[in-house]
Amino acid sequence: MSEQLNIHFKGSFSDVKTCPASEMPEYAFIGRSNVGKSSLVNMLSGKTHIAKVSNTPGKTQLINLFEVDTKWIIADLPGYGYAKASKVNRSAWSKMVTNYLLQRENLVLLFVLIDSRLPAQKIDVDFMEFCGKKQIPFSIIYTKSDKSSANQLKKQIADIQKVLLQQWNALPEQFVSSSQNKSGRDEILDYIYGINEQFSRK
Ligand code: GTP
Ligand code: MG
Repeated sequence: MSEQLNIHFKGSFSDVKTCPASEMPEYAFIGRSNVGKSSLVNMLSGKTHIAKVSNTPGKTQLINLFEVDTKWIIADLPGYGYAKASKVNRSAWSKMVTNYLLQRENLVLLFVLIDSRLPAQKIDVDFMEFCGKKQIPFSIIYTKSDKSSANQLKKQIADIQKVLLQQWNALPEQFVSSSQNKSGRDEILDYIYGINEQFSRK
């Protein structure tokens, strides 16, 4: 896998209606605020600062689009579950993201990021249930794997899976990542390229 993707920032959009229409397959990254979405976009791109990262939750406020190789698109979405967000902000988030998820025509897959260090969070479980109901295809990425030992990580992920399996008969494609040591990068990009192949053959 090449070190850096040929990636360009397309812009930030507050509404799916203003996102430029495209035929290129689009992959969106979502999850709780601070879970590491923007860091993962940087890690995948091989560039440190293409997406804005912050210690403070609620950094990404808009739909940020990045075009790769003029073939596919990454959408870095604002996070949910930011405790300090006002009600007004929360409902604005919900509207912006829900409209994006339901109306973005070239969206082919959503990556739902889950913090590998925490027990299954209700907000994540509920969000995946929403995706199921709306038939939005998604994969799971367990983030921040560098923060646990290999044994801890295995146990923590198994515990999360156990909770998810109370709701689902089978789990979707899953990845384990660290934006710090780049683990998961090849697997996630290979998966995306595999899907892109199917699109280019259509
Ligand atoms: P919002 O935009 O606020 O929703 O957050 P986000 O999900 O985009 O998170 P972001 O990438 O901004 O990262 C939040 C914090 O977690 C930052 O301090 C990152 O440096 C840290 N972080 C993200 N990914 C990793 C990781 O894989 N390992 C470690 N150790 N820290 C990470
Ligand atoms: Mg972000």
